[in-house]
Amino acid sequence: MKHVAIALLGCGTVGKGVVDLLSRNGQLIEEQLETHISIKRILIRDLPKYEQMDLPDTIALTTDFNDIINDDEIEIVVEVMGSADFAKECIEQCFKRGKSVVSANKDLIADYGIPLLKLSQENNVDFQFEASVAGGIPVIRPMYSSLNSNRIERIIGIMNGTTNYILTNMTERGLSYETALKEAQEKGYAEADPTNDVSGYDAARKIAILATLGFHSAVTFRDVSVEGIEKITHEDIEHASEMGYAVKLLAIAQQNDDGISLNVHPAFIPRSHPLANVGGAYNAVYVRGNCVGDVMFYGQGAGAFPTASAVVSDVMNVILHFNLTVTGKRKYVWHDTKLTDPRSI
Ligand code: NAP
Ligand code: HSE
Repeated sequence: MKHVAIALLGCGTVGKGVVDLLSRNGQLIEEQLETHISIKRILIRDLPKYEQMDLPDTIALTTDFNDIINDDEIEIVVEVMGSADFAKECIEQCFKRGKSVVSANKDLIADYGIPLLKLSQENNVDFQFEASVAGGIPVIRPMYSSLNSNRIERIIGIMNGTTNYILTNMTERGLSYETALKEAQEKGYAEADPTNDVSGYDAARKIAILATLGFHSAVTFRDVSVEGIEKITHEDIEHASEMGYAVKLLAIAQQNDDGISLNVHPAFIPRSHPLANVGGAYNAVYVRGNCVGDVMFYGQGAGAFPTASAVVSDVMNVILHFNLTVTGKRKYVWHDTKLTDPRSI
């Protein structure tokens, strides 16, 4: 049996989810790949905190990234720390040392995705980031491959589980904004600092990533007009309800003849619309292609196991060489980005 050693950078909600998923589905994965995947090392910051955690004895905890980068047996590094700068430094070093990387980090991908993809190609290694948008829902790979015979015209959806959890529970259980946010944090949906969730910037990063891939244009979250849910009150939700609407935080990217518009904002959605019924931390992403028409992706957009599902599938795809970036057979084409008035749709 072939053996692949991997390392994790970080062991919070998603990192622990990856450990648990490999333990739960290890045999199934081994049968598919004819390969045993083992987590050899995990980078953490606070040794005593993680020594208390229920982790297999075979995993070595380290606070020194050099232990991972200098370990030639480790072929794939899974980055699940969050934030951009230190993660970027680590990933660049991994590529230069011939290690492929899987990341769930949308802050990083939204800022540095294109240069990192290029660097991975130059070093003939793979870089996958399915979990960076919409947690467990496969949406990055379809955008890259299954839908690429289309001109993508529009991407619209609910892409932040925390805000959807808050709005759903303010509506259905009458929870206060603060209590609903606290629950979302306890359930592992929110970022370590939830500011980006509630202010709409997490969704802005996700729509920027999807628009970059779908529209072949290098847009960033700074190009997105953003409004969060902090100002939504119970009165807003009640008025919406009385008129037959649900309040949802939408992310919208539209490709028009004269350019691209990008928005994140709360919206009234008619109760009869499928997006109105996306509850809890679920996400839904509609993509409109000029030949396929509308395609909808729906599922759990946050949480330990759903996100680990996407991360571990990426690891498996690296092992299967089901990669998107390094075969040399596929050239990704980028257009000049022309932005239109963000409020023009
Ligand atoms: P988390 O629970 O806060 O875990 C982050 C982990 O990384 C913790 O173990 C943290 O250690 C560690 N860490 C952070 N900076 C570090 C550093 N400089 N050196 C070593 N370890 C470091 O976060 P998470 O929810 O697992 O999210 C991880 C990533 O996945 C983020 O990019 C997030 O946006 C993304 N993501 C999360 C979800 C979700 O549902 N949670 C879904 C999709 C994508 P400490 O304990 O010392 O802080
Ligand atoms: N904090 C994010 C959310 C995690 O609530 O959607 C998934 O990216």
